[in-house]
Amino acid sequence: MIDKTIVALDLPDLNTTKVFIERVNSNISFVKVGMELFYSEGHKIIEYLKEKNYKIFLDLKLHDIPTTVAKSLKVIDQLEVEMVNVHVLGGEEMLKKAKESLKNTALLGVTILTSHDQKSLNNLSLNRDLNSLVNDYHRLAYDSGLSGIVCSAQDLEYLNKKKDFLYVTPGIRLENQHDDQKRVVKPKQAFAMGATHIVMGREITKSNDPLRFLDKLREHYD
Ligand code: C5P
Repeated sequence: MIDKTIVALDLPDLNTTKVFIERVNSNISFVKVGMELFYSEGHKIIEYLKEKNYKIFLDLKLHDIPTTVAKSLKVIDQLEVEMVNVHVLGGEEMLKKAKESLKNTALLGVTILTSHDQKSLNNLSLNRDLNSLVNDYHRLAYDSGLSGIVCSAQDLEYLNKKKDFLYVTPGIRLENQHDDQKRVVKPKQAFAMGATHIVMGREITKSNDPLRFLDKLREHYD
């Protein structure tokens, strides 16, 4: 399970990333690069992580007209990262074109950002029950040929889960510190609920002793 544990590198730049990576080395194998790090370092950060043999989830959450997304993903596909994502809200045509652009990379859909609640959806005139909206977007992602979705572990409880579909789940905590995550699930529990991969960030990257933390995580999985 440690190889399905994706470490979110929510770090500002290449130098900070190098300091962290040199500490953890091969104790992790899968990392997530988000907008902050990618916008600050571009392809350089991907080249560095690939040289170190990490699998990479490039978390850029694209959402634009179908042609723009498709052309952008053709560029991303050259980087040969493991996973990239788009907002399902971009619609069926965008999702299908996005999928067609990728030969080397699995495409994940973001359903509804967990920062939304019912009130903020109503405010956008999306006056539907949040969970049923997530379920519909999950189905649209599946029907459009995507490889999986990013969702919270809570979503795994009610989603009509598909076979051979990826469920990549943030909002995970091994210990009690929640940071700004409101509802958290333990790593092993998330896998038991149907996650195929989990994302863990600050609990590892901000740990005083990441190696000790990773030992505890491995023990938790055993
Ligand atoms: O530090 P933490 O473990 O909370 O990091 C979780 C990672 O997952 C962050 O990169 C965050 O942006 C991302 N994420 C999330 N909730 C979502 C989608 C992505 O926390 N619904």
